[in-house]
Amino acid sequence: MKILAIETSCDETGIAIVETTDTGISVLSDVLLSQALKHAEYGGVYPTLAKREHSKNIGPLVEEALEKAGCASLTGAPAVCKETLDEICQLLEREPESFAYLTNLVAQYPKPNIDAIAVTRGPGLEPALWVGVNFAKALALAWDIPLIPVNHLEGHVATALATEENEHLTILQPTLPSLILLISGGHTELVLMKEWLSYERIGTTRDDAVGEAFDKAARLMGIPYPGGTEVSRRAAQAREENLEQPFTLPRPMLHDESCDFSFSGLKTAVRNLIESLGTLSETQKKQIARELEDAITETLTEKVRRAIDTYAIQSVVVGGGVSANSEIKRSLTQLTDECGISLHVATPRLATDNGLMIALAATLNPTPQKDISATGTLPLY
Ligand code: KG4
Ligand code: ZN
Repeated sequence: MKILAIETSCDETGIAIVETTDTGISVLSDVLLSQALKHAEYGGVYPTLAKREHSKNIGPLVEEALEKAGCASLTGAPAVCKETLDEICQLLEREPESFAYLTNLVAQYPKPNIDAIAVTRGPGLEPALWVGVNFAKALALAWDIPLIPVNHLEGHVATALATEENEHLTILQPTLPSLILLISGGHTELVLMKEWLSYERIGTTRDDAVGEAFDKAARLMGIPYPGGTEVSRRAAQAREENLEQPFTLPRPMLHDESCDFSFSGLKTAVRNLIESLGTLSETQKKQIARELEDAITETLTEKVRRAIDTYAIQSVVVGGGVSANSEIKRSLTQLTDECGISLHVATPRLATDNGLMIALAATLNPTPQKDISATGTLPLY
């Protein structure tokens, strides 16, 4: 079965095509266009810009993914009749750019060798999600194939569990009960998986997400959005250069018995510290970056440690863009080694948003649905 997957939940347009076989999942193509640089001047993702960019880029990216996967057939009868084209026109009336591209794609070329379309229906920025959902609906209609809705968070879980062997991907089932830590620009969640693919939230952030804490602190230090990777790079330099650690930031919510998090106080503490220091030297930026990364790492690790004890956890799965952070990974590896349980983390390339994660999640749960709507606050459970 060949699945074309579409991801547009935030500021990355990702398209991937996979083929599922008895031996595993083959990745036929995986294309990604990041808008991060365009959002940098706003200091964060600007929803209207995200929607416009997805709308402009989704068609060419789908075409590129089809070509790379060898699925585009350029000869034969066009895929759609006049009535279907009218229906597509209605679906995409609010997205003229993607509509123009799509009509060209389906009115000129025959149906490609694809069996289903998977699309992120949430959570994420709703205007951005709608671009992907409407485009996916239109393609499914034009090619008369099923549509599979995907939860973006399950995509992060799927990539964390994906392993590569003989050029095929397989999704490992972790030993249960498993603890899922989702850390991204929009989420900080602790989720209990007692049974395979059944989720129960046990903790969340009461304010900012952990990626947001990295990005906002980065901005205060004059590092453009998304600053997580840059903060982490400077923190690593502070460790390598053995710089003193003159600053102390809070380890939020450790006094609290729950599995919840709170990162807005940390951001305020960074702001106060920077205001008290005036213009920052490069050394001070590295020192603050290290202290921030240590505060976040210790907080996440301690909450995970408590959840492991409370729920007799047998494996830990870490997903989301922030799971690309090597210090957090090092600390969680140490913890899970001490506890004698396994740790599953996505490779850095697959940790941040991409189309392949949506294709992988679709293979876990390939239930088609006729009508899909985008839901910005869609939970995993
Ligand atoms: O999962 P993701 O790509 O998008 C959302 O679904 O939110 O996560 C993006 C977040 C950003 O906040 C980015 O700064 C953060 O992941 N991030 C990192 C690192 N790489 C990405 N944060 C800390 N260290 C990193 N190495
Ligand atoms: Zn994400």
